[in-house]
Amino acid sequence: MTSLTLLLWIAFGITVQFAIFLAVEFWRHWKKYTALRLRSDPDEAVLLPEAAPSSNDAAGKSWTGFLPFKVVRKEVEDEAGSVCSFYLESEDKRPLPPYLPGQFLTFRLEAPAPAGGTEEITRCYSLSDAPRDDLYRVSIKRVPAPSGSALPAGRSSSYFHDHIKPGSRLMVRAPSGHFHIDRSDAPMVLIAGGIGITPMLSMANWCVAEQPGRELWLFYGVRDEREAVMLSHLRELAEQHPNMHLRLCVSNPGTEQESESAYVRRGRVDVALLRMELPLKPYHFYVCGPTPMMESLVPALEDWGVPDNRIHFEAFGPASIKRRAKSAPASAVSESPVAETSLAVTFGKSGRELAWNTGSGSLLELAEAGGVNVPSGCRAGSCGTCQTQIESGEVSYRQEPDFDPEPGTCLLCVCVPKTAVTLGA
Ligand SMILES: Cc1cc2nc3c(=O)[nH]c(=O)nc-3n(C[C@H](O)[C@H](O)[C@H](O)COP(=O)(O)OP(=O)(O)OC[C@H]3O[C@@H](n4cnc5c(N)ncnc54)[C@H](O)[C@@H]3O)c2cc1C
Ligand code: FES
Repeated sequence: MTSLTLLLWIAFGITVQFAIFLAVEFWRHWKKYTALRLRSDPDEAVLLPEAAPSSNDAAGKSWTGFLPFKVVRKEVEDEAGSVCSFYLESEDKRPLPPYLPGQFLTFRLEAPAPAGGTEEITRCYSLSDAPRDDLYRVSIKRVPAPSGSALPAGRSSSYFHDHIKPGSRLMVRAPSGHFHIDRSDAPMVLIAGGIGITPMLSMANWCVAEQPGRELWLFYGVRDEREAVMLSHLRELAEQHPNMHLRLCVSNPGTEQESESAYVRRGRVDVALLRMELPLKPYHFYVCGPTPMMESLVPALEDWGVPDNRIHFEAFGPASIKRRAKSAPASAVSESPVAETSLAVTFGKSGRELAWNTGSGSLLELAEAGGVNVPSGCRAGSCGTCQTQIESGEVSYRQEPDFDPEPGTCLLCVCVPKTAVTLGA
């Protein structure tokens, strides 16, 4: 055998070994990927015995209407001092019904009115801790008056910050909402912008306590670190739980925030960052943040190829998130496309007839622009304040409402007309 033949045999042997190694690695990864994909399919989800309570459990022990609660603790949660947590216990100290991590409470408040006296307002606030049976916690950001305008500061948030303290009494509707984590052990990515961190805190706290083996990423976008809510708690969670990965994305860092750290990233949370950080896996994405972030990130995730059923989101106010496929249940969202032409909307009680077209926005916006007085709260289909009787005609929902409207009624803040319609407002 010549030395050339020997060399060729050695090269051949190395190539064969390398090919076997690649094939084995590919097979291993493929098995892992398939297992995760099956687990993340809701129909084939692996249910864990200690998993979150189901919607039925939560609903079964819940209450209807508003119940009195007592505030037992109030705590500032960020360096900037703009977010406060309120801990609530039921006035009769009964064990609290469980909820699903990500759900919210609805409050009916008697807050000071801008014109003097008080006014009744309804607002929703996400539960910001893992479910427990003695206390509920909500964390509220103060909404200041927009700079350079004569508009007042946020009424509910100012009321909470300025007037609510330990001993205060609050009227609270039971936990509700469709935005919550599922019971599978599929890997998940939580994306929060600003105060949108509150439902994610509930999800993350529950997940690390109950499913420590589950892969969990939290991308938390803030303008500067001083605004980050419960940052030391989040840092501790990430340090103690190897399966939790925290990324704090700071879009406008101050000069003193130069401290480079493994979990701090400069800039906003966007798909480019997700692509860079996340391994290739079938994650479920949970998104909650300000309207511009939601309106750009949700379609961008779809463009990236994330299937519709793995993108879950909640807006804390009006947001028009354009999705390729509608995610709302058939009972809530009309199958038929909304008419492009002008449609007549009659407000029976007010005696007003207005023309709705695609630029008019929701039926609530149409009513307000036409001088029809309709009470509203969240403007996001969550609180039920704008529920109105449909006397004739049909409406479509622009997004899945969290509040289930009674039969024959609709939520004007998230509805548009499908045909000419007469409403009891
Ligand atoms: C499901 C859900 C969960 C939520 N969870 C949380 C949470 O966990 N934490 C949290 O902090 N928030 C949360 N929110 C938001 C919260 O419900 C309130 O919307 C928020 O606190 C602002 O309410 P406000 O009464 O303080 O402000 P509002 O009084 O409603 O004012 C809002 C803004 O409008 C401006 N404004 C006032 N009057 C006018 C006018 N005439 N014309 C135009 N603009 C005006 C105000 O200056 C202010 O900037 C959640 C919302 C939803 C729907
Ligand atoms: S204003 Fe809250 S549901 Fe419409």
